[in-house]
Amino acid sequence: MGNGRVKVGIIGSQFQADIQAASFQIMPHDAEVVAVASPTPGNAAELAKKFGIPRVYTDYREMLKEREIEMVTIAAPNSLHAQMTKDIAAAGKHIVCEKPLAMTIAEGEEMIAVAKRHGVLLMYGEELFFTPKYLKAKEMADAGAFGKIHLVKQSEKHFGPHSPWFWDVNRSGGGALMDLGCHGIAFCHWFLERSPIKTVYCQMGTYVHGDKTKAEDESLCILEFANGAVGLIENSWARRGGMDDRIEVFGDAGVTYANLHMGNALQTFSENGYGYAVEKAPTTKGWTYPVFEELWNYGTPQELTHFARCVRGKETPQSTGEDGLVVMQALYAGYASAGEGRKVSLPYQPPPGVRKPIDLWLNGPTRTQVAQR
Ligand SMILES: NC(=O)c1ccc[n+]([C@@H]2O[C@H](COP(=O)([O-])OP(=O)(O)OC[C@H]3O[C@@H](n4cnc5c(N)ncnc54)[C@H](O)[C@@H]3O)[C@@H](O)[C@H]2O)c1
Repeated sequence: MGNGRVKVGIIGSQFQADIQAASFQIMPHDAEVVAVASPTPGNAAELAKKFGIPRVYTDYREMLKEREIEMVTIAAPNSLHAQMTKDIAAAGKHIVCEKPLAMTIAEGEEMIAVAKRHGVLLMYGEELFFTPKYLKAKEMADAGAFGKIHLVKQSEKHFGPHSPWFWDVNRSGGGALMDLGCHGIAFCHWFLERSPIKTVYCQMGTYVHGDKTKAEDESLCILEFANGAVGLIENSWARRGGMDDRIEVFGDAGVTYANLHMGNALQTFSENGYGYAVEKAPTTKGWTYPVFEELWNYGTPQELTHFARCVRGKETPQSTGEDGLVVMQALYAGYASAGEGRKVSLPYQPPPGVRKPIDLWLNGPTRTQVAQR
């Protein structure tokens, strides 16, 4: 095991890669980014310039040849996570895979197996386990503040993704449920002490973005856990006004409501507008709610620092490939539920040949047909 700061390579150079690089910069004590790889010429160089990253590559496999790199983060489209994980593990480096873990359950299982075989950590980028406000709710729950918890709600909504590949179900695997619901499933499972998920019931539709995607832009999903509690996750790519992320926790002795952005925001009115309010906000004119220390409030710097400390053996991973696999299984059950119009029990095995979760809804017998306006 090495010492000093963990040397990190980032795959990808756009949205999440930028967040990762900025997060390592916010908490520089445990890790340093030494290289970035991204296929479009110039893009990796641009990120490198912005964050002072010394080396750039257009082929991530070339970056993996760097001996000093110990941990590689995957900030590339979902359809590439499995192959990249296998390549990183074969190069003997620890892996941080962004959500969702993979496109299929089999891929997720293989990713976990390959990491084990090569003796490297497969860590899963679920920042909600590190989000200070949500962590506070969990600490209170663990201290008994809410008594026996019977309902946990999480929702994440905005007006749709920032990058074109998300709309292409062959690269993303699904819409709002796959993209955002993976957070909600992971959150409820983690909040409820990783009680196994017994059933999933899900309803979804495409209401506003049918011109550019086959994917669902609204989904409602109910999860039943083995301990008797229920999770309710709401996800949307059809919600105007920027990012909205919140939780509610109900127990026999109490309740807490937490809105990730409100309470960290300045209630602001501006005729002229200003630089930046919050992720995916369409405007800064009129009434807006700019956040401060946005990445810190999301928990990404804390998450990545924790992962670097795991590489050094100082901490034990709090978010793993196994967490990502639980999410994959629930996602498949969710799309099957929406496609079949019934509650689906876990473990759920998709029929052979299903290559992505959304196929179960798109090809399902009771798919809701929503007239496009
Ligand atoms: N944790 C979160 O909250 C969060 C937020 C956003 C995105 N993500 C996840 O991060 C991943 C990346 O999403 P994004 O928003 O950064 O997408 P993006 O489109 O902004 O960036 C994707 C990057 O992947 C690169 N890429 C594409 N093909 C590649 C290849 N063959 N080799 C190497 N790089 C390649 C692109 O060049 C680009 O730099 C996705 O899995 C997404 O779900 C997670």
